Amino acid sequence: MIYRPILLNEEIKFSKKKFIVSKTDVEGKILFVNKNFCDITGYGHQELMGQPHSVLRHPDMPKAIFYMLWKSLLAGMEVSAIVKNVAKSGKFYWVIADFSMQRDERGRLKSFTSFKRAAPTHVSQNIENLYHGMISAERKGGIEASLLFLEIFLKDKQMSYSEYLEDLVEEKAIFSSWINFFKK
Ligand SMILES: Cc1cc2nc3c(=O)[nH]c(=O)nc-3n(C[C@H](O)[C@H](O)[C@H](O)COP(=O)(O)O)c2cc1C
Repeated sequence: MIYRPILLNEEIKFSKKKFIVSKTDVEGKILFVNKNFCDITGYGHQELMGQPHSVLRHPDMPKAIFYMLWKSLLAGMEVSAIVKNVAKSGKFYWVIADFSMQRDERGRLKSFTSFKRAAPTHVSQNIENLYHGMISAERKGGIEASLLFLEIFLKDKQMSYSEYLEDLVEEKAIFSSWINFFKK
C-alpha cells in the first residue's frame, strides 16, 4: 500500500540549483532517485525503490496532466509539466519537471527519467489557477472535460501547451534579468 501523509498547507522551498532526479520503469515504478529527491521529500532511498511514482501525488494535480504525461512518454515524446507534489511530512512543493525516456538496444522503451527544479512562485501561482479550473471540470465531466478546459484556455492564449509552459517559465526570468541590469 502507498503511504499517504496527512496534507499540510505548508510549502517546502528549496534552492533552484537543486535538481531532483528520478528514474522509473515503463509502469512508473521508481528505479532510481538522487540525494536531493530524498532530502526534499523526506523519504529514504530504500522506502522509494519499487514504489509507484504516484507516492508523491498531490490531490490538487489534475488527472489530465498525468494522462498527457503518460500519453507523450509512451509515444516516445519528451514532455515538461509543472507539478505540485506532497513530501512525506505532508508539506507540498512545486517543480518544473522535464521528462525523457531511455530505450533498449532494440529501440523499445526501457525507462523514464525526470529532472525537476523548484518552480518560482509566479509560475506556481499562475498554473494553480489553470489546475483549479481543470479539477472542477474533472469533477463534473472527467478527464475529457478537463482536457477540453485546457484546450479552450490555450486557444484563448493562442499557444500550445509547451509554448504556454515556456512562456510562464521564461517571462519573469527575462523581466528579473532586466531589473538586475538596471540595479547594477
Ligand atoms: C519519470 C517519472 C516521474 C514522475 N514524477 C511524478 C511526480 O513527481 N509526482 C507525481 O504525482 N507523479 C509523477 N509521475 C507520474 C506518476 O507515475 C502518476 O502517473 C501520477 O502520480 C498519477 O498517479 P495516479 O494515476 O495513480 O493518480 C512521474 C512519472 C514518471 C514516469
